[in-house]
Amino acid sequence: MTAITPTKPQEVVANLSQYEASYAAVKQRGLKLDMTRGKPSNEQLDLANEMINVLGPSDYKAADGTDTRNYGGLDGLPEMKAIFAELLETSPANVIVGGASSLTMMHDAVVRALLHGVPDGVGPWGRGKIKFLCPSPGYDRHFAICQHHGIEMIAVDLDKDGPDMASDEKLVASDASIKGMWCVPKYSNPTGETYAASVVERLAAMKTAAPDFRLFWDNAYAVHDLEATTDPLVEIIAACAKAGNPNRPLEFASTSKISFAGAGVAVMASSAANVADAKKHLGIQTIGPDKVNQLRHVRFFKDAAGVRAHMRKHAALLRPKFEAVSRIFERELGGTGLAAWTKPRGGYFVSLDTLDGCASEVVKLADEAGVKLTPAGATFPLGKDPRNRNIRVAPSLPPASQVETAMEVVALCVKLASARKLKA
Ligand SMILES: Cc1ncc(COP(=O)(O)O)c(C=O)c1O
Repeated sequence: MTAITPTKPQEVVANLSQYEASYAAVKQRGLKLDMTRGKPSNEQLDLANEMINVLGPSDYKAADGTDTRNYGGLDGLPEMKAIFAELLETSPANVIVGGASSLTMMHDAVVRALLHGVPDGVGPWGRGKIKFLCPSPGYDRHFAICQHHGIEMIAVDLDKDGPDMASDEKLVASDASIKGMWCVPKYSNPTGETYAASVVERLAAMKTAAPDFRLFWDNAYAVHDLEATTDPLVEIIAACAKAGNPNRPLEFASTSKISFAGAGVAVMASSAANVADAKKHLGIQTIGPDKVNQLRHVRFFKDAAGVRAHMRKHAALLRPKFEAVSRIFERELGGTGLAAWTKPRGGYFVSLDTLDGCASEVVKLADEAGVKLTPAGATFPLGKDPRNRNIRVAPSLPPASQVETAMEVVALCVKLASARKLKA
């Protein structure tokens, strides 16, 4: 994101009393708007309502004759694996279909590594102090997994092409306790960028001091385009295999923001050795996933093309909300040098940067004016944004008109917090 320097600082300070008056007036309106979490709206969820009853009373057999009502099928129905494999551009053999949440699969992959280690490793990660690289701003729940399990987090910068590779390569080459790295490679949460081909290839090939280093490749927004064209992303499993590091990637995704959030189907994809290792542990944890839900998804979407067509309907509902954010920020803050914001081509978030030191004040002011935002700092490890400037905006849930009002309030709060800071 571009450096943020006020274009006319004296003018901003001179306008302080006007901003204070506008803010007092907004507070009188008694707004109650919530822009905190990236949930699908009711209209988006309605798009998949037919799935609830898509299975007639005698439709419970998968193509290979599996009775989906009964135990078994640890790695998923073949037809569900085929859909995920095509969407993730890998082969069905690399895929394990899980329960309803990819976050659970990520959490469990971390815990398995801590307790048991991973293929080509040197024992359980939990035996010593370990660290993960955390491109930031990033997804707060990734950081929560590390914090919860005592994994030290090293925040690393993200730019428009993905993580800053020069510093990442240096870190992983020199420190064998760095075992993992969180990546949201497409329409990243919250900054929206897609990793460039050169970045993916460097991540796949970089020399790591830890022989059992893993990329936690959270491809949560693989098919979540807002525009007619998708951002190209180099497929990580093949890239790592080509670079001689076949066991490096653990890829995750789900249909949470395709069908139903928390009632969809999740997936992990990786090398043959990692898949075999995960299945060994999964077989202890469960007798099998919810295959009835997998069959519902298969019947409803039919194939990967069906998923893509469905995602175009999501895009049509989401696009006006993202456009509202851009329009209001551009109108209220464009050219002021008081903020910079992303214009993502997919995913669920807009990332707003204020002047250094202003983000928590903006979130507090917005909250007091009735607009709830994700807490400042949430997008950084341990909730600490070193520059206190990043705010994650989640426009998906409220109607576009409310998004517009909420962004007007946020823009005003940015101006007010900036003016107060510049005056101090
Ligand atoms: C990057 C990312 N990964 C994972 C998730 C959650 O996925 P699931 O619902 O499959 O657990 C989210 C939800 O916001 C997300 O933004």
